[in-house]
Amino acid sequence: MNPDDEVCLCFRVSLRKVRTFCKQQDPPVASLISECLGAGTGCGWCVPFLKHLYAQHRDGVLPDLSVSPEEYAKTRLAYHVSKKRDEAVVRRATEGEGAPGDNPPLPREP
Ligand code: FES
Repeated sequence: MNPDDEVCLCFRVSLRKVRTFCKQQDPPVASLISECLGAGTGCGWCVPFLKHLYAQHRDGVLPDLSVSPEEYAKTRLAYHVSKKRDEAVVRRATEGEGAPGDNPPLPREP
């Protein structure tokens, strides 16, 4: 995903906003990302993705999702219709397909 792509489509919260929130607030639990403009508090679609972004932040990795914004939005629409999450998309988006080292750990601030 690109930084300006939206992770929470209900509240138009971009990946950049989530990254900045995590960096500045360093929330102790993933659920506190909801304080970033309400991310994850609408339809719930983005919650597993937000949890993944949080885990990456916690592990010192630049938060990212391996999914195009088009596929992400399309899969969300299907979720709204079926009420079932396409686990293959979640898995692919959160596991990534890049080579090791594509997303190197960020240096920790003291
Ligand atoms: S997409 Fe985030 S709550 Fe709906």
